[in-house]
Amino acid sequence: MGMQSMQEHYPVMAGEVIEYLAVRPEGTYADCSTGLGGHARRIAGLLTTGRLICLDRDAESLEKARLQLAEFGDRIAFRQSLFSQLRQTLASLGVEKVDGMVADLGVSRYQLTDPDRGFSLMVDGPLDMRMGRGEGPTAADIVNFSSENQIADIIYTYGEERRARKLARAIVRTRPHRTTLALARVIEEAAPRTGKLHPATRTFMALRMAVNRELEELEALLDQASEALATGGRIVMLTFHSLEARIVKTRFQQWARDGRASLLTKHVVRPQQEEVRRNPASRSAMLRAAQIEEPQSTRDGEK
Ligand SMILES: C[S@@+](CC[C@H](N)C(=O)[O-])C[C@H]1O[C@@H](n2cnc3c(N)ncnc32)[C@H](O)[C@@H]1O
Repeated sequence: MGMQSMQEHYPVMAGEVIEYLAVRPEGTYADCSTGLGGHARRIAGLLTTGRLICLDRDAESLEKARLQLAEFGDRIAFRQSLFSQLRQTLASLGVEKVDGMVADLGVSRYQLTDPDRGFSLMVDGPLDMRMGRGEGPTAADIVNFSSENQIADIIYTYGEERRARKLARAIVRTRPHRTTLALARVIEEAAPRTGKLHPATRTFMALRMAVNRELEELEALLDQASEALATGGRIVMLTFHSLEARIVKTRFQQWARDGRASLLTKHVVRPQQEEVRRNPASRSAMLRAAQIEEPQSTRDGEK
């Protein structure tokens, strides 16, 4: 089975995403991380008069999704957009509020396995790692022009890698770096393999998170989400990294304390064993969902 169809068949925790989103057939929904449209297809399939807005920072993925979802016609609008541009993008479509939104974080398998994008330490490619082509500094810019301390901080914080200082030293000593495999080798020499993971796995993930400003983007999405959602609207977040998971958990709890939202998931929801067996990439998925409450002032007014 090709990678493309795998994406199509196995969007992560699709059943749970749909369950928590509780799609209303006439509602307006946003998929903030469309990728190749796996979740989007399931949402669109439940709409009658409703609309789905498909967003992604990656124009190429969005174009593929557009082809895959052509049968839904103008029920779906596609827009290239960062999480941090959510409100502005919705406004440009004349949409003030949505009834639900989903964000499935990270890179897609399609992006990960494209050697040109330089995400993978298994295939050689330029050290790029930008999810949207032409966005900002690449992974090569970071490893070649940042200070040793900055590189160590990135690897330590985002990669949760204990050997960060040692790796940063080796990276700086051997620069410039141009390709993924050459960098992976430098890291492997500095920190030989101990367990099952390739020694460069955490460093690559950390660089990817820095290049794409992933935590900042997530914060910006959550900053705008509660405003963008209608009363009763639902947000479903799929995270794959402990720092992301913590940001979502903290923000949802804050909303609950402020009376802005209620938690639909008391604890994080993990994929079923059967899904992990079928699609090992789902194993680290963590789902949380919340529902926007009626503003306090309206509720008081009704008493
Ligand atoms: C894991 S994939 C989503 C897969 C999709 N749910 C599916 O079923 O095919 C994540 C997607 O989110 C996009 N993305 C990640 N961060 C983003 C951001 N800050 N703004 C917009 N899109 C983002 C990536 O380009 C990628 O296509």
